Amino acid sequence: MPADAIELLTSQHKEIRALFQKFQKSAETATPQQKQALVGQICETLTVHTYLENECMYPVTRQMCPGLESDVLESYQEHHVADVLSAELAEMSPDDERYVAKATVLMETILHHIDEEEQEWFPKVREGMDRKQLQEMGAQMAQMQKNAPRSPSDALKKAVSAMPV
Ligand SMILES: [Fe+2]
Ligand SMILES: [Fe+2]
Repeated sequence: MPADAIELLTSQHKEIRALFQKFQKSAETATPQQKQALVGQICETLTVHTYLENECMYPVTRQMCPGLESDVLESYQEHHVADVLSAELAEMSPDDERYVAKATVLMETILHHIDEEEQEWFPKVREGMDRKQLQEMGAQMAQMQKNAPRSPSDALKKAVSAMPV
């Protein structure tokens, strides 16, 4: 049985949290180049994840669960903040004094965001859609993941849903 939409996104959240922990644990010992490699991996994982939500999960939620409209709109803005910070990190030297601070703010923003998704509104999406719809959406996102953008600038080029930012 393929993962349903919420299972798929939640397992990606788990992967994102694990990468953040790795960054925090190695903060004292990693070289700037090692930090840059890990931040690159974090930004790529986030870009794929937010793309699937922006292009599939969020528009479907707006349609099927109108009561969650303000949660979805707030979430788009949080993705936008993550895109801006990720794009800035991609352009910045890991020796820059702002590098770790910017990466830390990105991670804090996203941790808050995924906690809200999991605790506050994904459970309501599960209530508002039936099992078959969630499975179909999961299958669609698994398919979209194969060709998903890997960087925020690619994500903007590939966006089709006119993310309201
Ligand atoms: Fe999200
Ligand atoms: Fe998410």
